[in-house]
Amino acid sequence: MSAAITVEDVSKRFRIYKERNQSLKASLMRGRRAKYDEFWALRDVGFEIPEGSTFGLIGENGSGKSTLLKCLARILVPDQGRITVDGSIAALLELGSGFHPELTGRENVYLNGSILGLGKREIDAKFDEIVDFAGIGQFIDQPVKNYSSGMYVRLGFSVAINVDPEILLVDEVLAVGDAAFQAKCMERFADFRAAGKTVVIVSHAMGTMRTLCDQVAWLDHGRLVRAGRASELVDDYVDETHAGPAQPTQAREHGRHGSGEAVVEKVELVDASGTPVTTVRTGDAVALRVHWRAHERVARPVFGLALETLDGTYVWAYHSRDGGLDVDAIEGAGTVDCAIPSLPLQAGTFDVVASVNDWTTQHTYDHRRQVARFDVEAGTPRESGGIVAMNAAWAPITGEQR
Ligand SMILES: Nc1ncnc2c1ncn2[C@@H]1O[C@H](COP(=O)(O)OP(=O)(O)OP(=O)(O)O)[C@@H](O)[C@H]1O
Ligand SMILES: [Mg+2]
Repeated sequence: MSAAITVEDVSKRFRIYKERNQSLKASLMRGRRAKYDEFWALRDVGFEIPEGSTFGLIGENGSGKSTLLKCLARILVPDQGRITVDGSIAALLELGSGFHPELTGRENVYLNGSILGLGKREIDAKFDEIVDFAGIGQFIDQPVKNYSSGMYVRLGFSVAINVDPEILLVDEVLAVGDAAFQAKCMERFADFRAAGKTVVIVSHAMGTMRTLCDQVAWLDHGRLVRAGRASELVDDYVDETHAGPAQPTQAREHGRHGSGEAVVEKVELVDASGTPVTTVRTGDAVALRVHWRAHERVARPVFGLALETLDGTYVWAYHSRDGGLDVDAIEGAGTVDCAIPSLPLQAGTFDVVASVNDWTTQHTYDHRRQVARFDVEAGTPRESGGIVAMNAAWAPITGEQR
């Protein structure tokens, strides 16, 4: 298979100027050069992106993913090494990059389209589809500075995908936009792949990267750790960084305690169809499924579930006695589900705590922290930040309006 993109020993250096507050004039007057530190955002990175593949870049914050994507898009020029691209490129890099805030959506579509190599006629022909796909409606004639971040991304993505490039570069846009738009993007990626085109995508959503990508390159502090099959590398990356597993994590067992007559074997997060998942969206119908085992007859057990954020913030707890579940006794093995009709968590990674206790909840048979971990991606409702999604609503303003 031939390569759509070849990256050979690419290094990119940034200069970080020390005397930040000094005016240009002041430093010129003093007749000396500004002091700076050199910083290598990419160091000797090399790999090939096969034509027709979906290729991911993974790595922690600041590892160089966006810098590399900008080099591929020729927005940045590497200081060393070489990038060979075979095919036309459209890139959707940062939120609203390539959009002019004062211009309307319509004007920006034409501006952006022409930057991506389309003539006016071609854009005319695609215009309705672009607006339709973005779901912008009458806002298309408003200046984009009035757009929400979701609208920005939707329009940018829509232009990039509708100019029909041979290679599409996408940085973190899937984290923005609601579930419906994300689903549409996934469909377009699938069409793209079916048409034999190449997609290079950056995302922190490891579940998505694992299923979407054929291969990934893993960057760490600007260096390539490895490039290879997505399923293997994503799992290795998750294991190493605890970024949120592609498989439910078990046996990270600090903090397990209990007398052991009944135990929590594992906990799964399952979707509406009962399939175990590790990535869900705000608003999804899910359930936490506790797999229990009782080595002897245990009367009136109480199952406990709780959620914590990665920094240990206690988010929620609910035990089955408070939930009205009175089980006569358990023996052998089985499962019990705690249903969550509409997941009220914003995007983030969450650890599950699970326990089996006696009816008084004073005696613990088994208590496990970090028995499972899952990622929440933005869905509906989409609120601006924090842990919980409250399905809140802004009411019309009162008072003087100017
Ligand atoms: N223009 C710039 N000038 C100086 N340093 C920069 C510049 N752009 C990026 N960097 C630095 O280069 C490093 C790599 O940044 P980059 O944005 O590529 O990381 P990233 O992997 O995309 O991170 P994230 O996951 O947070 O998006 C970071 O330390 C960043 O601060
Ligand atoms: Mg980035």
